[in-house]
Amino acid sequence: MKKLRTIQKNNRLKFKNRKIVLGVTGGIAIYKSASLLRELTIEHGADVQVIMTDSALKFMSTLIFETFSGKPVWTSMFSDREAVGVRHVEISKWADAVLVSPATANIIGKAANGIADDLLSTVICDAGTKTIFAAAMETGMYENPILKQNVKRLKDAGFGFIDPEYGSLASGTNGVGRLAESRVILHSLLTHLNSGSLKGKKILVSAGPTREWIDPVRFISNPSTGRMGFSLAEAASAEGADVTVISGPTEVANPVGVDLIKVSTAEEMKNAIVENFAKSDALVMSAAVGDYTYPEVSSEKLKKNGSDLTLILKKTDDILSALSGDKGDKIIVGFSVETENVIENSKLKLNEKSLDLIVVNNPKEKGAAFGHDTNKVSIIDRKGTVEELELMSKSELSTLIIDRVSNLLNGS
Ligand SMILES: Cc1cc2nc3c(=O)[nH]c(=O)nc-3n(C[C@H](O)[C@H](O)[C@H](O)COP(=O)(O)O)c2cc1C
Repeated sequence: MKKLRTIQKNNRLKFKNRKIVLGVTGGIAIYKSASLLRELTIEHGADVQVIMTDSALKFMSTLIFETFSGKPVWTSMFSDREAVGVRHVEISKWADAVLVSPATANIIGKAANGIADDLLSTVICDAGTKTIFAAAMETGMYENPILKQNVKRLKDAGFGFIDPEYGSLASGTNGVGRLAESRVILHSLLTHLNSGSLKGKKILVSAGPTREWIDPVRFISNPSTGRMGFSLAEAASAEGADVTVISGPTEVANPVGVDLIKVSTAEEMKNAIVENFAKSDALVMSAAVGDYTYPEVSSEKLKKNGSDLTLILKKTDDILSALSGDKGDKIIVGFSVETENVIENSKLKLNEKSLDLIVVNNPKEKGAAFGHDTNKVSIIDRKGTVEELELMSKSELSTLIIDRVSNLLNGS
């Protein structure tokens, strides 16, 4: 029991309580659908009903999809194992979204023209704009002007559409037509499902550590990975915001659906934030910016000369203080890392820096702050209310923080 709770806590659970129909069609990228389904159900907690077309069944059997969804796969309007009835209507009403991945030129053509001649196309016909297609096909098919008209028709009508990427194709050539990466598909699906509470808003997010160089091969930094900031940026983008991320050096994969500006030092971070703040509605300042810099960076590697080395560090500019004059009605969320008098020190910081919310990390707590997939924080608002949250994934925490930002921006 304890183990199960741990597993659930560590899961990212982006799709918890979401009901998804996964439509699988007969394209060569079908093999990626099995791992996409696994991510949706096992990693992100979605409830998924898979529908496969006749062509899809020529490529793969239902077994792997049944295993990862925990349900029989539906393959036919008329002859599956259980009583049929109007299952195409029931399933489309049940679903929060219909994701078709991979989506062949054929299913795109059928959907764009209202054709409903098998179970999947009929479900799409009934589900309408709840449907999102992840297209994959040879470049020739993708560049066919009729296909292009069909795609435009679907997009104009409000259907979701994930464009294929450039890359190597099954034919051995390179071109546009390759199925988008699964994290792009999942992000687009989440955006399609969400209410778009940040549509039209510009959100600036800072992420990761900064580096203060001593010589060409050494720097002072901190263990921030950028995961918290990237996760916040994706959560804001999934609510329809126009997101810019200013990030220090990180090893983690770039966030999906955002504009990314890479910086290195605290000064570069400050300049990029100041430049972008004026056109933003909110700033979420999750970067771990260095407090001290070494002003006399050596152009050559400092030699070991047998004695101790003393470096005199200079304080870096405080970024939030530099912004307070331009704050107006912009929302600013700060993060604090404290190891003693955690709440009192954070309240002081909230007031001194005119923040609207402060997210308080205590790295001494198990699973919190730097380097983990999880975090345990308290959130303090301008009234001084302290909300202590339990340990949760950074992804869940991001959704919660972005929800607060959305409420503040929308005046609720
Ligand atoms: C080996 C093979 C690979 C194929 N790959 C694709 C593909 O990537 N994209 C596509 O649109 N069609 C592809 N097709 C063609 C489709 O299978 C065909 O158009 C079929 O009618 C699609 O049916 P469905 O949309 O009902 O699944 C492929 C066919 C074969 C035999």
